[in-house]
Amino acid sequence: MPTLETTVDGLTLPNPFIIGSGPPGTNANVIGKAFDEGWGAVICKTVSLDAEKVVNVQPRYARLRSRDTGEIIGWENIELISDRSFDTWIDEFKEIKDKYPDRILIASIMEEYRQEAWHEIVERCEAAGVDAFELNMSCPHGLPERRMGAAMGENPDILEEVCGWVMKVATKPVWAKMTPNVTHIEDPTRASLRAGCQGISAINTIRSVLGVDLETLRPEPTVEGYTTPGGYSCQAIMPIALRMCMEIATVIRDEFPGRSLSGIGGIETGKDAAQFLLLGCDTVQVCTGVMKMGYRCVHSMQEELLAFMEQHKFETLEDFKGHSLQFFTTHSDLVRRQAEARAAKKAEHDKKVIQKDTDWDGDDFVDQTDALSRG
Ligand SMILES: Cc1cc2nc3c(=O)[nH]c(=O)nc-3n(C[C@H](O)[C@H](O)[C@H](O)COP(=O)(O)O)c2cc1C
Repeated sequence: MPTLETTVDGLTLPNPFIIGSGPPGTNANVIGKAFDEGWGAVICKTVSLDAEKVVNVQPRYARLRSRDTGEIIGWENIELISDRSFDTWIDEFKEIKDKYPDRILIASIMEEYRQEAWHEIVERCEAAGVDAFELNMSCPHGLPERRMGAAMGENPDILEEVCGWVMKVATKPVWAKMTPNVTHIEDPTRASLRAGCQGISAINTIRSVLGVDLETLRPEPTVEGYTTPGGYSCQAIMPIALRMCMEIATVIRDEFPGRSLSGIGGIETGKDAAQFLLLGCDTVQVCTGVMKMGYRCVHSMQEELLAFMEQHKFETLEDFKGHSLQFFTTHSDLVRRQAEARAAKKAEHDKKVIQKDTDWDGDDFVDQTDALSRG
């Protein structure tokens, strides 16, 4: 019987399915629900020291549906980080760890460009008992106006400096969460890993405009007639997330062996998760999927991942982590491989075509006849 249990950066998880930062980890009540349903770990909604500056609007989501089935396949949000006070969060971190001492609680944190602020948030979260950190360097809307979130994550120099501040005081594992809104995801990856972060999480949402209402001529989600570009998530982003995880995993394999990767983006099934693990992820995170399907979806996800492992006779996640990375190459190498395969096929065919009567062979007689025939 294969096992889903895994140890990443010294944290032991019953399975690799983690609640990604967002509404599904937004207070102690729902975090408890996630643990009760069996999620491998929970990353809380991003917290900051001064929640009074966080002011949300409604509506803040807009959803894209499949033309054929009506299923939600894309999701834009203009939601900010948590609007709950830091003191409340500290009390709830303690409460959760008292109730679930063996489960992994990861604090997603974000602060302004001030070393003392980052030190304070890390030290107070650690004192409250959290097991690890995820640095939100990637929120694409609202916060960049305050030079937070993606404003840091899009600039490798600032990212390296801020990650370095965190690494000076953190005694627990730290993952840096990447924004996909960059040309080369390898650059912020290297910056965070150079600064000493134990792992990378990828991806946050993709900057998007979900659509324009053809009656009102207003873009969605419309707030008092106006909008602002938001973050795109759900099924539709999985191919982009897989590509970026593949690129990050390749950097880790070649330049930072031993660092970890948590894959995020459109994961809704155990088969989706298997693909992220095959491309080098240690764990996977689910955010929008939980908003669509509820916390219980982790049951079928685990069953599907176990069935995949049984099919291939994998005993542990380690047995197939990163297995499919070896099958990526350059386009010119694909051209070379195809030319070689075609030449080999032609040589095989030519062998069957009789050049002179001494070539006829008793065993290949029918194939040789076919090779000389039309129709
Ligand atoms: C409504 C909503 C709120 C989110 N809030 C946060 C957040 O506070 N911090 C963060 O790091 N990511 C946040 N995210 C991003 C998710 O954690 C995740 O990176 C992204 O949505 C892609 O994964 P998914 O397709 O499974 O949702 C949010 C996503 C959504 C949809």
